[in-house]
Amino acid sequence: MTREELKAAAIAMLDRAYCPYSHFPVGAALECDDGTVFTGCNVENAAYPAGLCAERNAIFHAVAEGYTRFRRIVVAGRGTDYCVPCGICRQVMREFAPDLEIICLNGGGEEQSFTLSQLLPHSFGPEHLS
Ligand code: THU
Repeated sequence: MTREELKAAAIAMLDRAYCPYSHFPVGAALECDDGTVFTGCNVENAAYPAGLCAERNAIFHAVAEGYTRFRRIVVAGRGTDYCVPCGICRQVMREFAPDLEIICLNGGGEEQSFTLSQLLPHSFGPEHLS
């Protein structure tokens, strides 16, 4: 999938977001190292903390299907600001892909790209437990 196709896959997921409380849809498209793509959207809940972000939805879907090596992820929002991942999602990305590229989109489809180490410097990971 090209970069533009991956961006389109994340944008398409905005329509699947279940966000009746925040009214803030987020879509994500995760590319594995073999090119396989998993998508996700945010799924909220009346018991607010039970909700899940779009990025973790995509990552957990990939892991459940046996994929744990990731190249890049697109995070799409509809706001004027670039939709950057929350802290918990950054830590989940760190577990599997310390060199992940994170492509953040605003509502106009413009992008700003980061490395995970830019968004989560001096991070804690699996190797610290050994
Ligand atoms: N949200 C995401 O899906 N990803 C992020 O990284 C930022 C926040 C969702 C969670 C919640 O459903 C809504 O956006 C407002 O916080």
